[in-house]
Amino acid sequence: MAMWVFGYGSLIWKAGFNYDEKLFGFIKGYRRLFYQGSTDHRGTPAFPGRTVTLLPCDGEKCWGMAYKISGEENKEIALSYLEVREKQYDTKAYVDFYTEPNSTIATIQGVMVYVASPDPRINPNYLGPASLEEMAKQIIQAEGPSGPNRDYLFQLDEALKQHGCEDSHVIDLANAVRKLLPETKPSS
Ligand code: SIN
Repeated sequence: MAMWVFGYGSLIWKAGFNYDEKLFGFIKGYRRLFYQGSTDHRGTPAFPGRTVTLLPCDGEKCWGMAYKISGEENKEIALSYLEVREKQYDTKAYVDFYTEPNSTIATIQGVMVYVASPDPRINPNYLGPASLEEMAKQIIQAEGPSGPNRDYLFQLDEALKQHGCEDSHVIDLANAVRKLLPETKPSS
């Protein structure tokens, strides 16, 4: 049986594993927020960056990319790769994935998604909410082995826009970061 993985952060623009098919769509009941601290990809233990996680939120949709992986070998390789890449995400959830905005029937059931939970006992890197300006300042300064934190935010902003998806939290944060950078202007 094929395995499906849902990406709502860097997995949208960079899978990093072999897949048979990808679909842009959404999951229900979650909100994407820049509340997870990253000390291994977009920051360091001394200066954590901010990456996205999912928080349960009634009535919300979170758009992203679902990947279909089939064949035992491909599934094993993808899982071992993801377990390392997403190691600061402490929980795997299995969710329904939709492609039609008004549909009540899931396109795929049981899609796996990595979540960083807000409980500091199981997720010591969780940062939680802060003002837009505070988050923007932190993102501007943070950089880790996968690159500058601001690039993560800009790539996510761009990837969502390319798919016609408006995520106000991502757009507002990207614009707040651009406002603090001398050489760029906020985009609409
Ligand atoms: C994801 O993309 O689904 C998880 C968060 C990340 O790696 O950015």
